[in-house]
Amino acid sequence: MDYAVTVNNISKSFDKTKAVESVSFNVEKGELFGFIGPDGAGKTTLFRMLTTLLLPDGGEAFVDGFDIVKDFKKIRGSVGYMPGRFSLYQDLSVEENLKFFARVFGTTIEANYELIKDIYVFLEPFRKRRAGKLSGGMKQKLALCCALIHKPGVLFLDEPTTGVDPVSRNEFWEMLGKLKEGGITILVSTPYMDEASKCDRIALMQKGKILDIGFLNDIISKYEKPVYALRSGDMHKLILDLRAAENTDSVYSFGDYLHYTDRRGKAVEEDIKKILISKGHTDLVFKQINPGIEDCFMSLMNK
Ligand SMILES: Nc1ncnc2c1ncn2[C@@H]1O[C@H](COP(=O)(O)OP(=O)(O)O)[C@@H](O)[C@H]1O
Ligand SMILES: [Mg+2]
Repeated sequence: MDYAVTVNNISKSFDKTKAVESVSFNVEKGELFGFIGPDGAGKTTLFRMLTTLLLPDGGEAFVDGFDIVKDFKKIRGSVGYMPGRFSLYQDLSVEENLKFFARVFGTTIEANYELIKDIYVFLEPFRKRRAGKLSGGMKQKLALCCALIHKPGVLFLDEPTTGVDPVSRNEFWEMLGKLKEGGITILVSTPYMDEASKCDRIALMQKGKILDIGFLNDIISKYEKPVYALRSGDMHKLILDLRAAENTDSVYSFGDYLHYTDRRGKAVEEDIKKILISKGHTDLVFKQINPGIEDCFMSLMNK
């Protein structure tokens, strides 16, 4: 198999912090691959190594067939990188930013316009505006155009949707879907677990390690514990009472509900209800639900 990205046991530490610890995976050509994990998981460090901005301490990796250490110059020409923090020149206009990035890579906006045009149409009305004056969603679109302007084979997007409003987030994922149809391989990182379903495959990361990797449904189907969603008139007391209960495995807030798992596995509903009623809870809602990626992540993180 000819992979777009191959990573074998790559590691990177900063002093005593193991930012990325012996991580391995492959990404197929044309795949939209998501790295999902909270702050400090190692997502940025991993992407910076794969885009040759940071040398690994150990392990090896190949991007678009090139060794990230030996062939770093070739990789720089063949990957696109959109860093997490806003990377554009705030004082340059939309158009000037794009021209600048095109020139750095020895190309022109016109030469690769086809690739960015679906995204650029959103920006066109603002093309004279300074990048620093754009909204979050517009900045993100401009940064994506700039990362694409030299027609990379592999695109790395580090938390492109963090801090962006929900509508722009959705638009952004639609754009990635279209880009993917054009054949480009995309690696994207995000702290938002609900974005897992937008990716072909995902890696769940925490503290420098991959906890699980694969298709979303395969990851979820490995989760066998019954999960219950609970509500009561006093949510704060509900957490405390459930945490104190004898057979509690896990309790955490999720939207308007708590998600609860029990060490005994099955048929615990009557018992839990009895306990909660004896503690004075009213307006109880208690139902078994299908586990989601968040439940899997919580369970993997607590292992
Ligand atoms: N340049 C650096 N110097 C020291 N520690 C760093 C540096 N970059 C990252 N780290 C640490 O490495 C860990 C992983 O960070 P990072 O790769 O930024 O994770 P993420 O992008 O998933 O939030 C964190 O504990 C972070 O504090
Ligand atoms: Mg990061």
